[in-house]
Amino acid sequence: MESFVKKVFSDVSDRYSVMNDIMSLGIHRLWRRKFIACFTDVRGKTLIDVAGGTGDIAKRFLRKGGERVLVIDNNQDMLKKGLADVLDSDEMRLLERMKWQLGDSTDLNVDEQFDFYSNAFGLRNSSNFADTVSNSFKVVKSGGKILFMEFLNPRYEKSSVLMATYEHYLRYIIPVLGKVFANNYDAYRYLADSITNFIAKEWMLDTLARCGGCDVKCEVMNNICAIYSCTKS
Ligand SMILES: C[S@@+](CC[C@H](N)C(=O)[O-])C[C@H]1O[C@@H](n2cnc3c(N)ncnc32)[C@H](O)[C@@H]1O
Repeated sequence: MESFVKKVFSDVSDRYSVMNDIMSLGIHRLWRRKFIACFTDVRGKTLIDVAGGTGDIAKRFLRKGGERVLVIDNNQDMLKKGLADVLDSDEMRLLERMKWQLGDSTDLNVDEQFDFYSNAFGLRNSSNFADTVSNSFKVVKSGGKILFMEFLNPRYEKSSVLMATYEHYLRYIIPVLGKVFANNYDAYRYLADSITNFIAKEWMLDTLARCGGCDVKCEVMNNICAIYSCTKS
């Protein structure tokens, strides 16, 4: 399964940002803005952005005034695409404050503790959700902030016409959009399935608290996506 997930992200890396816009009708930009708004007092602070992919969250953190970011991902192609995009942009200066490293969210091998940990849309792709969450606590300073953003599993939400429509959209429309715009039905079928196979938000809140998080919160956006946040005690 792990190598299949790696292949999926290698296959979609080139079109990753464009496809996010197409599939979410641009709404993911609002979610990302909300996510980054949760990082407060970032001046002089460091971030480890795990499952950071092409570095979208990392760049937003630096633009907001953050000091330095380590982007970790287990897919070389996603990291390469992120680096190439920055080199190709008028934001090359950001590179001085970015480091890109191959690594796995379930077993982080870093010798520093950071002020912030983020993981946006990476948790449901990891091979072990509990290990990914517990590893976040190892790499954050005491008093530091841990933030996850992930899709809600419609199967665990209150059933409604909206949720049923959303589940159909994931099951039948997303793979077709993947075929049409990225010539890859299977990758987008996987990405949609990974949402309906994901855990319930209650598990996430429970796990963050059990790992030592205080002030654990969940903010649901558009009934589709949630931001989980806590402070390491
Ligand atoms: C949906 S993308 C999200 C990328 C980025 N965080 C963003 O917001 O655009 C998921 C990322 O998680 C990475 N990933 C999946 N499993 C991982 C793991 N076990 N450890 C580290 N990265 C992982 C994938 O390679 C991919 O880049």
